[in-house]
Amino acid sequence: GEGEGGGEEYLFKIVIIGDSAVGKSNLLSRYARNEFNPNSKATIGVEFQTQSMEIDGKEVKAQIWDTAGQERFRAVTSAYYRGAVGALIVYDISRRTTFDSVGRWLDELKTHSDTTVARMLVGNKCDLETIRDVSVEEGKSLAEAEGLFFMETSALDSTNVKKAFEIVIREIY
Ligand code: GTP
Ligand code: MG
Repeated sequence: GEGEGGGEEYLFKIVIIGDSAVGKSNLLSRYARNEFNPNSKATIGVEFQTQSMEIDGKEVKAQIWDTAGQERFRAVTSAYYRGAVGALIVYDISRRTTFDSVGRWLDELKTHSDTTVARMLVGNKCDLETIRDVSVEEGKSLAEAEGLFFMETSALDSTNVKKAFEIVIREIY
């Protein structure tokens, strides 16, 4: 905290990507402000939040970027990815098409990132078990094949949200 330690500070850029309406903005608002919006509108352009956590007694700040899943609302792609050292690739467990898009998002990330990126595959909306369309096993095996961390989350009921971000932040640190 303030006034402690040796004055060392870390700031990491993390990007959230994935199709429209998978819950990217709500994962960020749940993590950064403990808020959930059941009626959130599609993101236009780019938003970001800075969130701090403590690792080994040092303050680590993550600047987490969120952009539109919809192509027509997206900002300049290269600028969005520039300097990112972590990424959450999000799909919606109740909509298979969003899982099918993961490969495309990974390609885009690879094309635009300049360094090694700690990557977490996130199956969001795990509260929607009754209308599940992608099994946990499918998520796991895709993550294994691509060398990604994997977690199912719910921005609605908070399941694993903090964990998903913090695993990525710890991996970078
Ligand atoms: P774009 O900005 O268009 O790319 O969408 P997004 O990925 O940011 O999605 P957003 O966070 O706006 O959420 C889309 C819808 O899904 C909203 O109605 C949210 O309330 C809902 N939603 C988000 N996360 C969850 C979740 O974990 N569970 C459930 N049941 N609904 C969720
Ligand atoms: Mg959004």
